Amino acid sequence: MPEPSFWSEDSIEDLLSSRAKIMGPGVWAAARPDERPVISFAGGLPDVASLPSEELLRATRNVLNRERREALQYGGTFGPQPLREAIAERSSHIEGIPLNAEHVIISSGAAHGIGIACEAIIDPGDTVLVESPTFPGSLRTIHSFGADVEAVPMDDQGIRVDLVEEKIQKASDEGKQAKLLYLIPTHQNPAGSTLPLERRERLLEIARDHRILLMEDDAYGELWLGDEPPPPSLFALSGGELAIKVATFSKIIATGLRLGWNLAPPAFINRMAALRYDMGSSPYLGRIVAEMIRSEDLDRHVNRLRTIYRGKLDRVCNALEEHCSDYVSYLRPDGGFFVWVKLREGLSALEVQRVANEKAVIIGAGPHFFADNNTTQHLRIAFSYTPIEEIEEGIHRLAEALSEVASTSTVK
Ligand SMILES: Cc1ncc(COP(=O)(O)O)c(C=O)c1O
Repeated sequence: MPEPSFWSEDSIEDLLSSRAKIMGPGVWAAARPDERPVISFAGGLPDVASLPSEELLRATRNVLNRERREALQYGGTFGPQPLREAIAERSSHIEGIPLNAEHVIISSGAAHGIGIACEAIIDPGDTVLVESPTFPGSLRTIHSFGADVEAVPMDDQGIRVDLVEEKIQKASDEGKQAKLLYLIPTHQNPAGSTLPLERRERLLEIARDHRILLMEDDAYGELWLGDEPPPPSLFALSGGELAIKVATFSKIIATGLRLGWNLAPPAFINRMAALRYDMGSSPYLGRIVAEMIRSEDLDRHVNRLRTIYRGKLDRVCNALEEHCSDYVSYLRPDGGFFVWVKLREGLSALEVQRVANEKAVIIGAGPHFFADNNTTQHLRIAFSYTPIEEIEEGIHRLAEALSEVASTSTVK
């Protein structure tokens, strides 16, 4: 018999922090490509064929030739200054408000950007409002700080803003402070919805009246696929005052960079930086991406991505019409990576997910995305990663799974 190790899952328990105890030993992993030869609609991963290797190589060579020393030394906790400046300039155009480097902190991706914002704001017992459904990775982070999560339902247009004040009041009646509202107003994950301008404006009034900070996750904001860009961000509409906008290069360059940024009022940027002891996110990668922004390679790439994802979205919608219309309904999203598909009465999303998996089609099941028990029977089809030529076959197999589940369902 091998000796039991001195430090084991059980014996470390008394040493663990309350945060570690809240989370337990389960490790979070983003959806990964499956080992089997599957057709995957599972994760919000970018298209593989268009990953911009040439642009990254060119930028890397330029950076190492020109600023080798700065790129290969410690930067600061705010992140590499050239990237902060390049983002501020680019964001001034996108947001339509004047911004400078003081509005920017570089993160190691949006997941980290959400983490540093939560660290600066949330105490155990604070109430955090979230959309339901929402991105489970962020829910996990918010929970880890000991927050009480209050779910706000959504409809086809996004968060039910008319219910937000009610939820704030409920927290206050319970003697708690609702400090933060986390939402993905544009091309929501998983629901694909985009919050209309009037709801954004109403939300800002509520935020101002109740001194509640908005954490606006804009992971997909640049990837609009219709004719028009989405309405301005909450950050922009409030003149950069009332929201922390969390953004990322994961979806517009590559998830493997692990690089993103938060835009926020400088007072919050300072407090997020003050909590960092890691010397900031990579100066090397940051300067490479800054070079891609300055050369306008990034803007050209994002334009190309819009065409690619528009083509994939068309393919998914056409295939859904052709093969699945007896079983599902959905609204075509204006952008992002996801089609949120509502199942016909009596069909279980988990069951459809399981049967599709047997047919080597991987798909997200709606119930995994809910912050409360009010789950609905939806599937999340991530169309970004799937090679375009596999989409039709994947949706065809999904239709077979739907038909099989329907034939055993009690509601016909
Ligand atoms: C809504 C949302 N926020 C944040 C993230 C995390 O992104 P990142 O890779 O930048 O950490 C994701 C990734 O899927 C996401 O969908």
